[in-house]
Amino acid sequence: MKALVLAGGTGSRLRPFTHTGAKQLLPIANKPVLFYALESLASAGIRDVGIVVGAHARDIRELTGDGTGFGLRITYLHQSRPLGLAHAVLIARDFLGDDDFLLYLGDNYLQQGVTDFARLAAAAPAAARLLLTPVADPSAFGVAEVDPEGNVLRLEEKPDSPRSALALIGVYAFSPAVHEAVRAITPSARGELEITHAVQWMIDRGMRVRAETTTRPWRDTGSVEDLLEVNRHVLDGLEGNVEGKVDPHSTLVGRVRVAEGAIVRGSRVVGPVVIGAGAVVSNSSVGPYTSIGEDCLVADSAIEYSVLLPGAQVEGAARIEGSLIGRGAVVRPAPRLPQAHRLVIGDHSKVYLPS
Ligand code: G1P
Repeated sequence: MKALVLAGGTGSRLRPFTHTGAKQLLPIANKPVLFYALESLASAGIRDVGIVVGAHARDIRELTGDGTGFGLRITYLHQSRPLGLAHAVLIARDFLGDDDFLLYLGDNYLQQGVTDFARLAAAAPAAARLLLTPVADPSAFGVAEVDPEGNVLRLEEKPDSPRSALALIGVYAFSPAVHEAVRAITPSARGELEITHAVQWMIDRGMRVRAETTTRPWRDTGSVEDLLEVNRHVLDGLEGNVEGKVDPHSTLVGRVRVAEGAIVRGSRVVGPVVIGAGAVVSNSSVGPYTSIGEDCLVADSAIEYSVLLPGAQVEGAARIEGSLIGRGAVVRPAPRLPQAHRLVIGDHSKVYLPS
């Protein structure tokens, strides 16, 4: 069995971060979300993985390499424009050949991994096999109707009036029958070839499409809120480990990971927290549920439930929470007068000011 991991797309809900980088490389507990997918494919015994890349192809290739570090053989497949999940399958035809494969959306985080799902797909073949989970707002996802035996009766992509609460998780198992389906369908209202429509096409032709339902933690990290939530969840399972320097004027409470080369001085860190290599936390209060990336600076500040990307600097910020702060971004106090906010922020950035 092969795997096809999708790491293209525009990531419009994660602007401005996706102007300069791939959403699949945004960090969860200081590790790209894509790496969790690759690790779980390797754990499931899959070796040959195709990664579909788009605008940020170079960053993904540089960081992920040929897959040796994961125990995988990675082939990169270039999607010139984000024309949909089924379009990604279409362009991967040669790589996939006539093998069964898992399709894995590279911005999905699935705590349980894919080992059981891949095993089931191999043991009880179907034309397609879906993974579903009940959600509060199904209209934001693909939605499935399933009979009591686990046969999928009908699928809809982001319906206004969902017929069930079962959302499609971004992990699917396919037989080569999907190739005919992705060639047959036409673009949806959002101009994309939807994998949901390809699977519906298979159902309409009487093919066997099965579903597994899970209630284990899963998130599509497509928005800042989801990313912070996955970060919280992953940090919750974190083991504390101090390899960097923590001075005697600092207190670490609970599970805190301080990477080698990081420095904590005069600060209180309440876990779970990760502090990346080369980061400096000084005279601050950090945590809980916070990831400080490599080479960040946090000084004279309080920060909780937040993610700082590598090289971000936060100084003199009384209290920051629920924030995602970009690579090399600088947050600093303005001079007291004039009474004004001074902002130098990029396109599609968001600043929430106290009212
Ligand atoms: C895609 C699929 C949708 C699925 C979701 C899971 O949506 O089209 O059916 O439920 O991934 O993350 P998108 O993220 O492209 O909006």
